[in-house]
Amino acid sequence: HIFPICALNTINFVLKLHYWVFFLTTLLIFQAEIDVAVQLLLKLKTDYKHLTGQDYKAGCPPPENVVNQDNGAATDGIDEEDNVDPWNVSTSNAKGVDYDKLIVRFGSSKIETELVDRIEKVTGQKPHRFLRRGIFFSHRDMHQVLDAYEKNKSFYLYTGRGPSSEAMHVGHLIPFIFTKWLQDVFDIPLVIQLTDDEKYLWKDLAIEECHRFAVENAKDIIACGFDVNKTFIFSDFDYMGSSPEFYRNVVKIQKHVTYNQVKGIFGFTDSDCIGKISFPAIQAAPSFSNSFPQIFGGRKDVQCLIPCAIDQDPYFRMTRDVAPRIGYPKPALLHSSFFPALQGAQTKMSASDANSSIFLTDTPKQIKNKINKHAFSGGKDTIEEHRKFGGNPDVDVSFMYLTFFLDDDEQLEKIKQDYSSGALLTGELKKILIETLQPMIAQHQERRKQVTEETVKQFMTPRPLNFKL
Ligand code: TYM
Repeated sequence: HIFPICALNTINFVLKLHYWVFFLTTLLIFQAEIDVAVQLLLKLKTDYKHLTGQDYKAGCPPPENVVNQDNGAATDGIDEEDNVDPWNVSTSNAKGVDYDKLIVRFGSSKIETELVDRIEKVTGQKPHRFLRRGIFFSHRDMHQVLDAYEKNKSFYLYTGRGPSSEAMHVGHLIPFIFTKWLQDVFDIPLVIQLTDDEKYLWKDLAIEECHRFAVENAKDIIACGFDVNKTFIFSDFDYMGSSPEFYRNVVKIQKHVTYNQVKGIFGFTDSDCIGKISFPAIQAAPSFSNSFPQIFGGRKDVQCLIPCAIDQDPYFRMTRDVAPRIGYPKPALLHSSFFPALQGAQTKMSASDANSSIFLTDTPKQIKNKINKHAFSGGKDTIEEHRKFGGNPDVDVSFMYLTFFLDDDEQLEKIKQDYSSGALLTGELKKILIETLQPMIAQHQERRKQVTEETVKQFMTPRPLNFKL
């Protein structure tokens, strides 16, 4: 009597509605939880593959020694004071990056005296000053390369340059000077990649400009004295399109590296263009000999050795991780420290700041002015104090530059002693550096003038090279 039938129906309907709302909400929450769990499982599977190099199989224990040395270390520059990746180098330490710590973080090996002695024994040549002075300080698998070389199994060299401007700075020369020495003492072929595509993707530059910079930079590289019969220089824009074998390797590498992995290695974000995300495969491909059939006749087993500064290591950690999974040998590496900016060892030279660098196009006057005005000094504020307490060569940029370019070990040691004791003043030290760099750069400019368009074409034409494997 109290509730008419229609009211009971309404209550019934509302109750049913509540039931369905409750049911659907529970279903949605449950679905969201399933999504999270699936994502977690996928991530675990990817991490497993990243660490072990193998696909996860349910019920199978992981193989032994699964910790992948090459990828064990993060490349994200989270270290307290040092930040080192292909785009940034900075530290809060006035003496520069702590390279010993970097070796541990990157999982590479220190170049010990024993390795330097071994290179001397194998080549029969006095080690280059970059090796004698620990400027090339870290390596991956160099002993393996020497073991094979001693058994008459040769190897090839691979290095490169990202042509972001017409003028290269002195820092860029370091790996090329050393590579030239390696080519001479081991008598082996060399490939040099000019990543004009990389610079197009990263900088606000037109494709034509990047390609033009590649050709201009090739002239500076050729002026370092490479043997045209043993050296192939290529622009990615030119070579990628003309070599099916090269492109096949690029795609093979792309298939075996996940977005998660490159994000972890290079710090890419969701707003980076997809060109950047897939670019590392292009820098990796020259590490495999069958990318150059005109040179190696399709052989895929010729060992590669890459000399570069340590900022490029992330690319090659990735390459070494992929190599065994696509049936190729891992490339070996020799890493150099950074030629510091004039303002101090907290950062490397930058091509975008004219006053931080000495360019290969600088005149003797510009070199003198830049060093006198901008080279950070480890000297004391007054002559009296300097004479009394001495200077600090460990933070003095002029002294650091001399360690790269003054070949005479005894003279360098004497300069160090005299500067530390206060016998040598900052102005005098800078003068020694100016007198070392001016002729060195002038000679480079002279050699570059001799490099004709015809010579560039010779170096950059895909062709067989002259060597014995
Ligand atoms: P890029 O053009 O930044 O540098 C070219 C080479 O010079 C080294 N380098 C330095 N070495 C010592 N002191 C410095 N201040 C300094 N600045 C640069 C770099 O480590 C590099 O060896 N993506 C690369 C191009 C590239 C490459 C390679 C380099 C492609 N394939 C293989 C080395 C090996 C780049 O932009 O380099």
